[in-house]
Amino acid sequence: MSLRIVVLLAVLSGVTGSPSVTPRPEADSAFTTVHPNSVPETVEETELSETLDILVEEEADEDVMATGELNPNHYQAQRAAKVVQHYLNTRYGSPYRLLGLHRVHSGNAEDVEDSGRKYQLEISVQEIISNTTEKCSAEVLFPSGGQQRSPQVQASCEELLKINTTAQEEALYQQYKMNKSLLSAQYLPDSYGHIDPDMKPLWHLCIVASSFLMLNESSENTLYNMAQVANITQLATENDQLKFDCHVLLHEMVSQEIIHWKLLFTWSPPEGVKVQQMEQLPHCHHCEKPPNTN
Ligand SMILES: *[C@@H]1O[C@H](CO)[C@@H](O)[C@H](O)[C@H]1NC(C)=O
Ligand SMILES: *[C@@H]1O[C@H](CO)[C@@H](O)[C@H](O)[C@H]1NC(C)=O
Ligand SMILES: *[C@@H]1O[C@H](CO)[C@@H](O)[C@H](O)[C@H]1NC(C)=O
Ligand SMILES: *[C@@H]1O[C@H](CO)[C@@H](O)[C@H](O)[C@H]1NC(C)=O
Ligand SMILES: *[C@@H]1O[C@H](CO)[C@@H](O)[C@H](O)[C@H]1NC(C)=O
Repeated sequence: MSLRIVVLLAVLSGVTGSPSVTPRPEADSAFTTVHPNSVPETVEETELSETLDILVEEEADEDVMATGELNPNHYQAQRAAKVVQHYLNTRYGSPYRLLGLHRVHSGNAEDVEDSGRKYQLEISVQEIISNTTEKCSAEVLFPSGGQQRSPQVQASCEELLKINTTAQEEALYQQYKMNKSLLSAQYLPDSYGHIDPDMKPLWHLCIVASSFLMLNESSENTLYNMAQVANITQLATENDQLKFDCHVLLHEMVSQEIIHWKLLFTWSPPEGVKVQQMEQLPHCHHCEKPPNTN
C-alpha cells in the first residue's frame, strides 16, 4: 500500500511540476517518473486525472487550435515547447547534458499555407545536470497532410553549447568500453524514484535516445514525457560506437497512455547518440514482474 502511495506521489510531482511536492530528491524534475505498476487503470486513474484537472480542462476545446498569440501556460504552447525540448536533446543531449523545458514565455501560432502550422516560441530551457537555464527562441512547424510527419524545429540556444562535457564523456566512454562485461540495468528510476548514481549516465543516454522518438512521434495533439527505462542492455560492437538496446515507457499526457518502445542506439563522444531502430511494442499492462515485492 505504502508503495502505491509513494508511486502516486512521484507521479503527482512529475505531473504538476510543483516544487512543493517533491519527495524525489533523486529524480530530475523535468521528467515524470511513472512505474509500470502504476500505469493508470482504475483507482489510480481517477486520482491521476484529478491532478490533471488544469490540463484536462484545457483539453475540452482541443479540436480548436488557436491562431495568433497564445497563452504561454495553455496546452497548445506547452505542447509545441515540449517538442523543442526533444529536438534540443537530439542535437545536444549526452550522458552529461540533458535539456528540459523550464518555462514558456510567449507563443504564437499561424497557419502556413499548404505546409501546416507554425509556432513561434520564446522559452526557457534548463540544462538539468548543471542546473542552468537559458532563454531560447524556437520555431516549430507541424506539417499538415494525411500521413504523419515529424515536426520541423529550429532553435537557437547558444549558451547551452558552452557547457563543455567533453572530458566527462570521454571518461565514461573509456569506462564503458574497457569494462570486461557489458552493462545492463532495469527500472530507471525504480518505484521509489531512486536511481543508482552509477546508472544515471545510462538513464540519460536512454532519455536522449527517447527524445529522437518523441520528436518523431509528436504532433499538435500530443505531449510526450519519458516515464521510465524498463531496461537497458549494452550490446557488443566491433567498431568505436557503443551500442545499447533500451526499453522505455513513454507517457503520452493527452491520451493518458503509457507506451512501450524498444530503441536500438549507438553512442560515442564525437558522434553523440544515434538511434538505429525504433519499435513500438504491444500494450503490456502488468505483464512484467514488479522489481521489488517486499
Ligand atoms: C537550480 O537553481 C535554482 C536557481 O539558480 C535553485 O533555486 C534550485 O534550487 C536549483 N535546483 C537544484 C536541483 O539544485
Ligand atoms: C519517424 O516516423 C515516421 C512516421 O511518422 C516513420 O516513417 C519514420 O521511420 C520514423 N523515423 C525513424 C527514425 O524511425
Ligand atoms: C572542451 O574541453 C576539451 C578538454 O577537456 C577541449 O579539448 C575542447 O576544445 C573543449 N571544447 C570546447 C567546445 O570548448
Ligand atoms: C563493470 O563491470 C563490472 C563487472 O565486471 C560491473 O560490476 C560494473 O558495474 C561495471 N560497471 C561500470 C560502470 O563500469
Ligand atoms: C525489458 O523490458 C521489456 C518491457 O518491459 C521486456 O519485454 C523485456 O523482456 C525486458 N528485457 C530484458 C532483457 O529484461
